Amino acid sequence: MPFAAGDAKKGAGLFKTRCAQCHTLKAGEGNKVGPALHGVFGRKSGQVEGYSYTDANKSKGVTWDENTMFDYLENPKKYIPGTKMAFGGLKKPKDRNDLITFLKEETA
Ligand code: HEC
Repeated sequence: MPFAAGDAKKGAGLFKTRCAQCHTLKAGEGNKVGPALHGVFGRKSGQVEGYSYTDANKSKGVTWDENTMFDYLENPKKYIPGTKMAFGGLKKPKDRNDLITFLKEETA
């Protein structure tokens, strides 16, 4: 199933409760436990400067876009075996659509 535009407001709520403890969104906010997500769309995996990725994340070599992000967030450990991202995944396609719609706006 491919990505379909969702509800950015719902996505904001999901980001806050599921991602914000480990990731920032805006330019200059920097890395936390996870790499900064500013500019993530259109970027290859593992490219944030100054962030210490696993080899698994770095060598995945995927370009993050709506559809790769949609697949990744369903089950990060399956998409990138060996990742240190401690997140079980968002199983509902609607949640992923809402979150990605929000992320595209807020990380641009
Ligand atoms: C408990 C902390 C934690 C949570 C919660 C978390 N992440 Fe992560 N995330 C990480 C870590 C750590 C990495 C780096 C993984 C590696 O190097 O193996 C990462 C990597 C990523 C990457 C790859 C970035 C790149 O530059 O290749 C994306 C995209 C991402 N996370 C998005 C999300 C989203 C969206 C959420 C919420 C649904 C989320 N993460 C929840 C810790 C977290």
